[in-house]
Amino acid sequence: MSLLLGTWGDRSGYILLSLFAVLVISRILKFYNGLQVVNVSGYRPLFGPLGFPGVLLPTRWWNVGLDVHYRRRHDMYKESDYISIVPFISGKPQIWTNNLDVARQIEGGGLKGVFHKPLESSAALRLWGTNLAAANGEQWRRHRRVMGPAFNQKLYRIVWKKTQEIYREMVMTPEWTNEVVPIRPVQSITFKLALIILGSCGFGLPGTWSEPPRTQSNDKAMTVQGALRIVADTVQLTLFAPGWLKALPIKSFKDSQNAYRQLNDFMQDQINLRKGFINGQIAPEVEGSDEGVDKNNLLNLLIQASEDEEGKYQLKDEELIGNVFLLLLAGHETTANALAGTFGFLAADGKIQQEVYESIIEVLGPERDPDFEDYSKLNKVMASFIETVRLIPGGHVLIREAGEDTIIDIPADPKSGKPKRSLPLRKGVQVVVDMIGLHRNPRYFDDPEEYRPSRWFHLPNDSELFTGFSVGPRACIGRKFASLEAVCWLSMVLRDWEVQPLLTEGETIQEWKERTLVPNFSLTLGVCDVPVRFVKRPKATV
Ligand code: HEM
Ligand SMILES: *[C@@H]1O[C@H](CO)[C@@H](O)[C@H](O)[C@H]1NC(C)=O
Ligand SMILES: *[C@@H]1O[C@H](CO)[C@@H](O)[C@H](O)[C@H]1NC(C)=O
Ligand SMILES: *[C@@H]1O[C@H](CO)[C@@H](O)[C@H](O)[C@H]1NC(C)=O
Repeated sequence: MSLLLGTWGDRSGYILLSLFAVLVISRILKFYNGLQVVNVSGYRPLFGPLGFPGVLLPTRWWNVGLDVHYRRRHDMYKESDYISIVPFISGKPQIWTNNLDVARQIEGGGLKGVFHKPLESSAALRLWGTNLAAANGEQWRRHRRVMGPAFNQKLYRIVWKKTQEIYREMVMTPEWTNEVVPIRPVQSITFKLALIILGSCGFGLPGTWSEPPRTQSNDKAMTVQGALRIVADTVQLTLFAPGWLKALPIKSFKDSQNAYRQLNDFMQDQINLRKGFINGQIAPEVEGSDEGVDKNNLLNLLIQASEDEEGKYQLKDEELIGNVFLLLLAGHETTANALAGTFGFLAADGKIQQEVYESIIEVLGPERDPDFEDYSKLNKVMASFIETVRLIPGGHVLIREAGEDTIIDIPADPKSGKPKRSLPLRKGVQVVVDMIGLHRNPRYFDDPEEYRPSRWFHLPNDSELFTGFSVGPRACIGRKFASLEAVCWLSMVLRDWEVQPLLTEGETIQEWKERTLVPNFSLTLGVCDVPVRFVKRPKATV
C-alpha cells in the first residue's frame, strides 16, 4: 500500500514538475515572442493592465495596474511618445501612446480594416448582445447606419427641453428652496439627471425629479433608475465572476440578475409597443406611458430608422436591445462624471466660475432661460465642460488591434525636437491610445495639468482639436447629446447658484482638490466623490 502510494507520489511529482516546466517554458516563449513582436522599450509586468486579473489587482512593482497611465504620467513618455507593455503571464503585447497622430491613424476603426476593436476589450458592452460599440467591419457599419440617423435634430431638441424641465423640477423640491444647499457628493444629482435624461430622451419614459421611471406599473417593480444603477454597479461582477459563483444565493447577485431581467423585459415591451405603433397596428392613444412625452425619443427613432432600412440592414430585436443597453452604459456614467467634475473644478476656482457666470448672464440676461438656439453662444460653459473631459476623460483608453502587419507614421515634433519616425507593427499587437497621456501631453497643451477652460474659448464646438470623444468615424455618437445636456444644465444651475467646495474642518481648497478632483478608475473614468454646496445667487441685474 505504502509502496503503491510512494510510486504514485513519485510519478505525480514528475508529472507535476513536467507540467510546471512546460508552463514556465511556454510563458517564457510567449514573453520572448511578445518582445520580438514589439521591439519597443517599456514595462514588463506579470499581467497586462487592462485584462483579467491585472485590472483587478493593485498597482505594485509586479503589476502595472489599470491606473498606470495616471500614476506614471510624468515619466511614462519621457523618452518616446510610445512605449510597450509586454506581460509575462497573461495579456497581449501592447503599444501605449500619447500621440495624436497615432490615434488618428488607428481610429479609422471599421473602415480601413487594419485595426479593429479586440473583442475582449468590449466584453462588458457585449454582455447584452451585439451592438455598435462592440462590433467591427461590416457589422459595425450596419449598426452605425441605423444608429446614425437616430441622433438627429429632433432628438437634440428634446434633450434640451427635458434637461430644462428637470432643472425646474429639481429646484421646486423642498431641499432646493433653501438659500444654501449642500450636496454630498455632487455626483448624486448628476447621475440622477443623466439617467432621467436617458430614460426620457432614450425611451420616452415619463420620469421626473421626484418620480423616476419604473420598470412596470405595479408596486413591486424597481424604478428603471434603480435597476440601471444595480446593473451598472455590478457589470464587473457579471463579467468576471464564474457562473457557479453567481448561482450562489447571495443577495447582491440575485439583485443584479433580477434587475437585469426586469430591464430586458422592459425593453422588449417597449420595442413591441413602438413597432406596433410605427407600423400602425397600435393606435397612439393606447400608448399609456407616452402621455405628455415626445415621440422623438431615441428608441422610437432607432426603430424607425431600422424599419426604414431594407431587410438585411434592419436590426433584430436583440440587437436593438443590445444598442439600448449600450447607450445607457456609454451615455450615463460618462456624462454624469463629466458634469460632476465640472462643478468640482468650478467650485475650486472662483475666478473661472465668475467668468463663466458672467458669460451666461451676457447671453441670457437676468430672467430668460436658455433656448436651444443659445447653445453655441454659451461657449464658455461648453469650454468648462470639455476642459473637464480633457483632464478626466471618461473613455480613458482606446484599444485597437492590428489585423495585419502595418506601419504607423509619426511626424516630427518641432517642440521637443523629435524627428519623424515610423513604427512597424506586427499582426496581433494592440495599440492603446492613452487619453490621459494624450490630454496632458505638453506637445498639445500648455500647462497641461491645469484646469483652464479658456483654451477652448475661441474654438468651434465641434473642433477636431478636442479629442475627448475620440476621433474619426468611430468617434462618440453621443457627443452632441452629452454636450447639449451639459451646456443646458450647467447654464441653468450656474445662473442661479454659486457652487462652492464643502470643506472638512481645517481643510484647504488645495487639499479638497487633491482628494476630489483626481481620477477614480472604474469601467469609465470619473472624479472622486465631490462634496459641494450651492449658494443661491441674488437675481442678476444687467
Ligand atoms: C462626456 C460624455 C461622453 C464621453 C467623454 C464619451 C466618450 C466616448 C469615446 C472616447 C468613445 C470612443 C470609444 C472607443 O473607440 O473605444 C465613445 C464612443 C461611443 N459613445 Fe460616447 N462619450 C460620452 C457620452 C456619450 C453619450 C451621451 C452617448 C449616448 C447617448 C454615447 C454613446 C457612445 C457610443 C454608442 C459609442 C460607440 C461608437 C462606435 O463605436 O461607433 N456616449 N464615447
Ligand atoms: C529592433 O529595433 C532596432 C532599432 O530600433 C533594430 O536595430 C533591430 O534590428 C530591431 N530588432 C528586431 C528583432 O526587429
Ligand atoms: C456646434 O454648433 C453649431 C451651430 O450652433 C451646430 O450646428 C453644431 O451641431 C454644433 N456641434 C456640436 C458637436 O455640438
Ligand atoms: C469612486 O466611485 C465610486 C462609484 O463609482 C464611489 O462609490 C467611490 O466612493 C469613489 N471613490 C472615491 C475615493 O471617491
